[in-house]
Amino acid sequence: EKGTYAHYMLKEIDEQPLVIRNILQKYQDEANEIKLPNDIRTSFHAADRVYIIAAGTSYHAGLVGKELMEKVVGKPVEVHIASEFLYNQPLLSPNPLFIFISQSGETADCRGVLVNVKEAGHPSLTITNVPGSTLSREADHTLHTYAGPEIAVASTKAYTAQMAVLAILAMDGAHAAGSDTDFDALHELSIAANAMETLCDAKDDMEQIARDYLFETRNAFFIGRSFDYHVVQEGALKLKEISYIQAEGFAGGELKHGTIALIEEGTPVIALSTQENVDLNIRGNLQEVVARGANPCVVSMDGCHRADDQVVIPLVHAYLTPLVAVVPLQLISYYAALHRGCDVDKPRNLAKSVTVE
Ligand code: F6R
Repeated sequence: EKGTYAHYMLKEIDEQPLVIRNILQKYQDEANEIKLPNDIRTSFHAADRVYIIAAGTSYHAGLVGKELMEKVVGKPVEVHIASEFLYNQPLLSPNPLFIFISQSGETADCRGVLVNVKEAGHPSLTITNVPGSTLSREADHTLHTYAGPEIAVASTKAYTAQMAVLAILAMDGAHAAGSDTDFDALHELSIAANAMETLCDAKDDMEQIARDYLFETRNAFFIGRSFDYHVVQEGALKLKEISYIQAEGFAGGELKHGTIALIEEGTPVIALSTQENVDLNIRGNLQEVVARGANPCVVSMDGCHRADDQVVIPLVHAYLTPLVAVVPLQLISYYAALHRGCDVDKPRNLAKSVTVE
């Protein structure tokens, strides 16, 4: 039930800190160590390469999952759009592990890949919000995202929950591999949950940004680099699916290779900067579009922020910034859709679970 909330989407955005804390409980034992089924640990450890298969928002979580696994565990990871992988399979490593990420666990494109993967005898793990779902039943292993039912068509809490579980899986994988990482997923996730809460409390600011930048625009661009690039792709997807504003998320450095031609006087460009090592670069990219008349909005992180940035997110571990940085983007999309009179929870042409190829 959505209770006092006008929409499920807003309720589900607000639930995110709680969901992360819930995940921390579920995946922790009494000694505060990560609790994961042994067979999952073994499968992950045995794999020489991980293939993440997903669609839409879950694909965007997969992009962050790759960063986590490669940086924390040192294991190579490929992320594939399910419908592409299905008909154009890349070369596989000798010992692949397939990870399916799906909120519903019913996405037909993923299922198609899983059927082939099983036929070929490769191990599979589904990360899903619905444990009894098709992808969960048919894969060798399941990790539950414990986000609770997600009713709004636009996925929010399932996305952050998926990334939290991927962070835990990565840290566990690092321990199993004996690699010494100083990334403490459990500790850092609880800091991230607090930061998400701070941002959920700043709704008025996000509503004002939606009003100032997105009320009348035809299109909007999001730019980011490194981890932020993955998050802006998700931010753009959120905005377009519920507000019908044409929105795209670009790698900051790629804009000038063509897309900059679309920048006109007043075009909103939302830049995300949470990664210190590319902060100067992304701000440079923003200057390039401002010089062409863009209306800039900066979402940065405490530590690499400037006085006139529109949103400053609290400091969290560089690997977990996606969980936190997506919150203002979700809220801005929500208010943009609301102001423009769109049906936030049930956007046109979309279904909650896509069970046809
Ligand atoms: C976006 C959205 C879709 C889904 C996609 C995959 O808000 O909801 O892009 O993420 O259809 O769905 P699942 O995760 O159920 O496989």
